[in-house]
Amino acid sequence: MQMHGTTGADGVRHYRLRLAPGRTELVTGVRTATWGYDGAYLGPTLRIARGKRVDISVRNALSHVTTTHWHGAIVDGRMDGGPHSLILPDESFRFGFSLDQPAASLWYHPHVDTTTGPLVYAGLAGMLIVDDDAAESSRLLPRTYGVDDVPLVVQDRRLDPGGELAYMTSPADIMGMKGDRFLVNGREQPYFEAPAQLVRFRLLNGSNARIYNFGLSDDRPFEVIGSDAGLLCEPVRVTRLLLVPGERAEIVVDLTHKRGRTIELRSYSGEIVPVLSKQAMEKDRFDGGTFDLLQLRVVAPSGHISKLPDRLAQMPALRPDAPHRRLVLGVAEDVMTLAGDAKGRGHDGPGGMNLGIGGQRFFSIDRDYFSFDRTNMKLALGSTEVWDLGNTSKMAHPVHIHGTSFRILTRNGSAPPAVEQGWKDTVLVRPAEHLRIVARFTKRAGDDAPYMYHCHILEHEDNGMMGQFTVT
Ligand code: C2O
Ligand code: CU
Ligand code: CU
Repeated sequence: MQMHGTTGADGVRHYRLRLAPGRTELVTGVRTATWGYDGAYLGPTLRIARGKRVDISVRNALSHVTTTHWHGAIVDGRMDGGPHSLILPDESFRFGFSLDQPAASLWYHPHVDTTTGPLVYAGLAGMLIVDDDAAESSRLLPRTYGVDDVPLVVQDRRLDPGGELAYMTSPADIMGMKGDRFLVNGREQPYFEAPAQLVRFRLLNGSNARIYNFGLSDDRPFEVIGSDAGLLCEPVRVTRLLLVPGERAEIVVDLTHKRGRTIELRSYSGEIVPVLSKQAMEKDRFDGGTFDLLQLRVVAPSGHISKLPDRLAQMPALRPDAPHRRLVLGVAEDVMTLAGDAKGRGHDGPGGMNLGIGGQRFFSIDRDYFSFDRTNMKLALGSTEVWDLGNTSKMAHPVHIHGTSFRILTRNGSAPPAVEQGWKDTVLVRPAEHLRIVARFTKRAGDDAPYMYHCHILEHEDNGMMGQFTVT
């Protein structure tokens, strides 16, 4: 389902979203209590044209406080939907902004301090596509929604014996909540009838904690055309693609002449564990193996058939000489023991789902834990900065920054791989790695609604691994 909004007399495009409870057949034959945006699980794909003014009214019909954050959208702090912009039960929040950024696949989700993890896990998330019809590549690429331009929200969930969502049911879950059921667009291992032509998939790793190493069952190469916040300079041919929680990629799979074939999109997770961390304290049995996510059943070609352009986008030159800051990610050594003793936040989620133990001081950035009372950094409006990201812990953390898109200058001293050379807003930092990223801060965020930077493993974010900064 996509939502283009309606244009008012003022020329502004209006969208309405409503968060409410429902029941969903996530897994065949089981009706699970869930929360969703305009539906029982997940939400509509919002289409926003670059430069167009939008007005989005978000109504909270849940009994739990929420917010709605536009992940990857470069908007003022007050419109960012972070932890300061609460929407109480039965209340609404009106967002107004326009996006001046390249065409990209962004997403939205709640961002409440201490309960972002359970809220997203309950089903609250959706895609936000920025369209830029002025860009030539946008006209050339596959663009018929649901036919050859398909969003794929990839998530994992665990169900209890009664078929309800199980969240943080063991102390080990504090390392990052992982499930054993794999959902694409809210359904366990579904199939998609793909036309025998170039098909574009907008992949979102919408999982709380799991990393996927995407590939196709016949090891066919595919083209990566976009990263988090825009198209790459040119298509990059790969057979595997790693996506960490919060990250997106746009890929194009060539199914020409493959009518009648069945191909699985799967995660070759077993291939990546050794590079993630030696101890791999966050690893579960799926991280050691291969599992299917989505079946592609190739059917007759349909509609307009695209050809992949050689050049996709132009990238501005990097500014590696900008002022530096250093951020170091850390995890308390005894986190599992501490988690066992922590007091929970109740069972008020859908179907009595646990709301976790958010609010603990287990995961840190620069030895600090998130606090509303501390502004961790004050940036100047219009400034460009280089951030050095380090990781002294034994697990990998996806770092996400609000209010900007960044580029990776170096990963461990070398240029990043081609798929990481475009616009990013979320990036993996493995144990002992050292990344340098460069970002420009063009929107304002004051003390009333600062921007966040945090780990996108939501259980880490909820338990300290987040900071806030102003841009003035
Ligand atoms: Cu996707 Cu600060 O979040
Ligand atoms: Cu974000
Ligand atoms: Cu983390």
